[in-house]
Amino acid sequence: MKICVIGSGFVGLAVGCVLADCSHEVACTDVDHQRVTGLQGGTAALSEPDFDDLIQRNVATGHLLFTTDSREAAAGADIIFIAVGTPATLSGEADLSQLWTAIDQLLPTINHDCLLVIKSTVPVGTASAVRKRLDQSPSASKLISLISNPEFLRVGAAVTDFKHPQRVVLGSTSEAALQKMEALYRSFVEPSIPIYKMGHESAELSKYAANSMLALRISFINEIAELSESLGANIHDVVSVLSSDNRIGPHHLKPGPGFGGSCLLKDVQSLVSQAGEHGRQFGIGEETLKVNERQSDNVITKLSDALGTLSGKRICLFGLTFKAGTDDTRESPSIRIADKLLATGATVTAYDPAYRGEAGIRIGSVIYADDPYTGCENVDAIVITTDWPEFAELDYAEIAQRVTNKLIIDTRNILDPTRITEHGFHYVGKGLPHIT
Ligand code: UDX
Repeated sequence: MKICVIGSGFVGLAVGCVLADCSHEVACTDVDHQRVTGLQGGTAALSEPDFDDLIQRNVATGHLLFTTDSREAAAGADIIFIAVGTPATLSGEADLSQLWTAIDQLLPTINHDCLLVIKSTVPVGTASAVRKRLDQSPSASKLISLISNPEFLRVGAAVTDFKHPQRVVLGSTSEAALQKMEALYRSFVEPSIPIYKMGHESAELSKYAANSMLALRISFINEIAELSESLGANIHDVVSVLSSDNRIGPHHLKPGPGFGGSCLLKDVQSLVSQAGEHGRQFGIGEETLKVNERQSDNVITKLSDALGTLSGKRICLFGLTFKAGTDDTRESPSIRIADKLLATGATVTAYDPAYRGEAGIRIGSVIYADDPYTGCENVDAIVITTDWPEFAELDYAEIAQRVTNKLIIDTRNILDPTRITEHGFHYVGKGLPHIT
């Protein structure tokens, strides 16, 4: 099939690369010339495993090409995926300007039957608004069938998640369009994977509901972790009990500094805002966000409980990315914590294994160190903010020699408290009994 993908971020690239690898003829587009030039040269410049290999292999076979010309890419395409960004505005609504621009550019070029697939995360009702826009163009109206096909890809696992999804969601009012999309997915997903077909609104809401549920679980466990600290319980024990209940399961129940990344926060905010627009309240979503924000405040409280005033203190953050396995710092809890620390007058240094900047360079007012040992030189506390496994493997005897004050706040519970305290550190985990 001839496929066009509008938007070559990590979602669009995952779609494009996997479909090209299945021998479809794929053209991926982006408005960013620099990105397209990089992609044409075989580099995605995203720390996603598999992208560069897949790009190079499929560009070489001629199954995949990159262009800034979306009209040319869409000409004659059987399926056009829209995978542009829908970032949150300051008020929490999704900004759909990239989606509308893409559609307006495509409309004049469509002179053949095709499927238009909305892969971007869009507020409920967007597909119906897109349908209205298509219907204003009488020629395109008859030719284009619309599909809502939300994605559930994790940053750092985009290709795997697209190739091996746990489920596929298709929303449309056209049975023929649904069948065509089902056939496309069935050509590469395992037969046991369910493909759910439904109306546009249900497909759109499913995406927000899924991410809100994940966010809710994280806020839930973070609140239980806070209670554990006050009540003398151990969050590890509590999570073991919860996880072994099949009805609850183990996923997204790791306590931490709050969730980050480009999706969870944005999608919960958007659903809160969508509810408000319909005179409803997504109260549990609002609470999820409040609990999440509080997690970074708690780190500041733990530091000031131990150090007194933070003004003039030096704090080193281990981790800048929003989770391990990516160089993505969007909505990272580390950045939230850094901002709050800087507001107290503290000096903040940071080390992250995936940060690609130069050592000694300031990111905002945070001073970046290119190794953890330099980063924690003369600091009053170390805060572990990202769950990079290598933080557990560092030489804490060496670190103990370098710091001014031996305090570690481990928001991810990745260190072994016994080992750390042997080096004289005061260790404060998340939801754990106090150890000195
Ligand atoms: C998420 C969804 O998982 C994915 O389905 C959706 O398509 C996009 O949003 P992602 O943003 O890649 O994916 O990250 P995820 O692994 O869900 O983690 C999000 C944040 O929550 C990270 O900051 C992570 O560290 C944190 N987290 C995750 C926890 O604090 N505890 C957990 O148990 C899981």
